[in-house]
Amino acid sequence: MSQWIGTANQQYAPYAMEELRRLLEGAGFTQLAPGEVFLMNSPLGREETLQTIHRNEPIFLRHVQPVDRTIEIEGNASDLERLSDMVRHAVLTFEYKRTAVHVRRTSKTAFVYSAADTKAVLDAVLEEIDAEPVVQDPEVIIAIYAADKELYIGFGTPRDMLSDWPGGSVRFQREEGQISRAKFKLLEAERTFGLQYAKHQQALDIGAAPGGWTSLLLERGLRVTAVDPAELHPSLFAYPTLTYLKSNASDAKLKDDTYDLLVCDMSWSPMQMCRLILDLESALKKGATAIITVKLMHRKPLQTIRDVVSRLSTEFVLQKAKQLFHNREEITLHLTKK
Ligand SMILES: C[S@@+](CC[C@H](N)C(=O)[O-])C[C@H]1O[C@@H](n2cnc3c(N)ncnc32)[C@H](O)[C@@H]1O
Repeated sequence: MSQWIGTANQQYAPYAMEELRRLLEGAGFTQLAPGEVFLMNSPLGREETLQTIHRNEPIFLRHVQPVDRTIEIEGNASDLERLSDMVRHAVLTFEYKRTAVHVRRTSKTAFVYSAADTKAVLDAVLEEIDAEPVVQDPEVIIAIYAADKELYIGFGTPRDMLSDWPGGSVRFQREEGQISRAKFKLLEAERTFGLQYAKHQQALDIGAAPGGWTSLLLERGLRVTAVDPAELHPSLFAYPTLTYLKSNASDAKLKDDTYDLLVCDMSWSPMQMCRLILDLESALKKGATAIITVKLMHRKPLQTIRDVVSRLSTEFVLQKAKQLFHNREEITLHLTKK
């Protein structure tokens, strides 16, 4: 038996639980923040549960933390003292390690301290026991979830937790003049799928306007063909490496065997999107990377994803399907061209 806290994007926890239920027969669930965060009792031990989750990573599970300790919240300073003692007692887990403290709170929690104050107190304890408190690139994470009446605490690596951000909430700095928030999706996809866009040469961006994704790829030094009947942001035309086809993707004339990266963020009916992508597959090189968002239009997202992947499987191999933190009513696919 082992206990876990799972987190999904708002409204998507039921699907994460459905995926986990299929993986871990007999698992039990309690909601902690409706639609988003839940407690899971796994019938398997910690290592077996982790292996099972990693072998078949659920699309809608954004973050998972083990529950190693539970502290009943008293609502006063003794809560911080008990957290501090807990870290002191686990000295061997943290000694000489780059350690991050991640604190999340439900809106109704009886825990009176902010995430920042709790982290400051525990960072001081970490220094006391010769651990190195860090924010970025930790080796170990102390994840604390302040539920209504309990603190759930777990220790693990970023890999264990599927993310090195608290609750998997990836934050990127908004840049001055940034064309669209959509850019964050493509940045997050690069990290999540372990890609380096700069290693590609020729990108095809379908449904490119206003141009957040195109701007990122141009900044990374790629030649980009952006296809969209809508207007691209004027700032992009400063790049001589941009080709703009102002048309519907189904009318675009593309050279065969040209692109080693396809990105598509059309926000369209999934099946129409599949047809469009399959119609232009000859423009892609063998082994090309594809990053595609799939809009979840109706109530059965898992079925929609299965249908899309099966439809695309004639020409593409699925590497990973994931709902990213920056995805709203959609998920992102990472595929490679056969
Ligand atoms: C969500 S926006 C894309 C945002 C973009 N990724 C960015 O970073 O700025 C969707 C775009 O898809 C375009 N689109 C929809 N259907 C299309 C089609 N058949 N061919 C080309 N573009 C299409 C729309 O005009 C719209 O500009």
